[in-house]
Order: sequence, then C-alpha cells, then structure tokens
Amino acid sequence: MSPDLWVFGYGSIMWRPDFPYVEERPAYIRDWSRRFWQGSTDHRGVPERPGRVVTLISRPGELCSGRAYRVEDRHRCGVLSQLDHREKGGYDRLATDIFFSDRNSTRGITYLATPDNEDYLGSAPSSEIVRQILTAHGPSGSNVEYVVKLHESLQDLNTADQHVEEIAVAVRLSLAIRNRAPRQPDR
Ligand code: SIN
Repeated sequence: MSPDLWVFGYGSIMWRPDFPYVEERPAYIRDWSRRFWQGSTDHRGVPERPGRVVTLISRPGELCSGRAYRVEDRHRCGVLSQLDHREKGGYDRLATDIFFSDRNSTRGITYLATPDNEDYLGSAPSSEIVRQILTAHGPSGSNVEYVVKLHESLQDLNTADQHVEEIAVAVRLSLAIRNRAPRQPDR
C-alpha cells in the first residue's frame, strides 16, 4: 500500500484547502521564505492588472510556516490534478520535507512559482506591492482579501512572517485612510 500524500500550504491552501483530507497540522518547511512575488492573472488579478500572491524563495536557514494536510492515498491522483489545475498560474509541484512542531517530519509536496514562469513579478518596493494589491481583482476575489486571509491564517498559527506583516499592515492602513469619512468643511 502506498503511503498517504502530505500537501504543505503556505498561501491560499491554508484557508481554502478545498480537497478531501483526513488530518491537518501546523507545519513548516526549511530553507524557504514567503514573498508576494508571484503575479496572479487567474485568481486575484487579470492579465491587464495582475495581483500579487505568495511564492517561495530560497533562503537557506530560514523557515516558512503553514499547514500540512494528509490526503488518503486513494484520493492522491484526484487531489493532485485538482491542485495542479488550481495552481496552474505559474506554480509547479515541489517535493519537500515537511516538519511538525514535535520535530517529526514527513515527505510531501508544495507548490512553488519560480522566476521562469511568465506571470512572475519578483521583488519590488513594499509601496509598489501594496499599490498593486489595492487595485487588483480576479475571479477568486480581491487581492486585498487574499492578503487579509493570509495574515489571519498566520495569526491563527501564532506565527510571525515579517514580509506578510509589513504588507498586510500597509494594506490595512491604506484602506483605513481611503475609507475615512471626508472632513466637514469649516464654516
Ligand atoms: C499555497 O497556498 O501553498 C500556494 C500559493 C497560493 O495558492 O496562494
């Protein structure tokens, strides 16, 4: 009998796995860091105005936390083809070690968007990333919603991610300023 499949999610898979699993655990992977460096033209943006979603960049010594899901072997093919389709906007499967807080680990897969995909956006100043996020919408919803859900998912895990924190705080601040009631004119 083949072992079950472990899927590690560090972005939308954390709040919307949307596939059958029998176990879910907080987890992390080593030597990767999360960044809003992938363009989204099919979920949180459109080709004319791509959104920004997270991918992994190689950072030896760093950890990226997220959630790991155990999928029964009988669902392996179905779940993989469903995820391959969902993540088709630039992501490829990556085999990885997945670590749990009790220091146990398992082999599994995650989805990674590398610089050679056509939607890759790469690094940019935070102000530019935030500006792009504030204006992007796609078939899965607004880019702002993606950032808020990612931020909340990491808070639920009680884990800090400096890059996500910086972008999420700046996005919320910009929205608060934008939504502030206009001042009454002085009489
Ligand atoms: C993931 O969730 O693990 C991949 C990136 C995304 O779909 O947001």
